[in-house]
Amino acid sequence: MSELWDADLCRRAAEFAAEAHAGQTMLGSDAPYLLHVTSVAFEIARATAQPGSSLVGDLAIPCAWLHDTIEDTEATVEQLEATFGSAVTRGVEALSKKPGLTKAEALADSIDRLKDQPTSVQAVKLGDRIVNLQPPPENWSIKKRMRYSEQAELILDQLGNADAHLAQRLRGAIDHYRREHIPE
Ligand code: NI
Repeated sequence: MSELWDADLCRRAAEFAAEAHAGQTMLGSDAPYLLHVTSVAFEIARATAQPGSSLVGDLAIPCAWLHDTIEDTEATVEQLEATFGSAVTRGVEALSKKPGLTKAEALADSIDRLKDQPTSVQAVKLGDRIVNLQPPPENWSIKKRMRYSEQAELILDQLGNADAHLAQRLRGAIDHYRREHIPE
């Protein structure tokens, strides 16, 4: 089993995320956005505790809590750097979409940058997509649903080697999404 994580460090990451995402809600719902980030952190924490896991909890779990802070909040790279140091900050940067690209380009670009990161950071992208493969909004067209599941397939194909447990979870989530939400 990989080493267990530093609970104080992970709590600081949770607090930072809670403050940064304060007031934000999930798309099409009143639920706090922090619920998304929390779900990803639990997905990752579970994976680090899997027998045989080589994930480093002190990198993977803070990156999970913080993965949307640069992309979606006022938090800055400098603040992250000062609070969590450079390994976590580089990880969060790689997990963030660059502005000014189409969705497909931004995903390909983020995957490219993630490939230069430790598997503990890559794993967060798997956890994020597992959590995001919830039932789609009613108004999503079949085409949009298909595109979303194809993106998930690309993430699994490109980053699945980062962690066997998460790769298996993502495989199951994609299959379930297709079965339940994309008519034949
Ligand atoms: Ni996310």
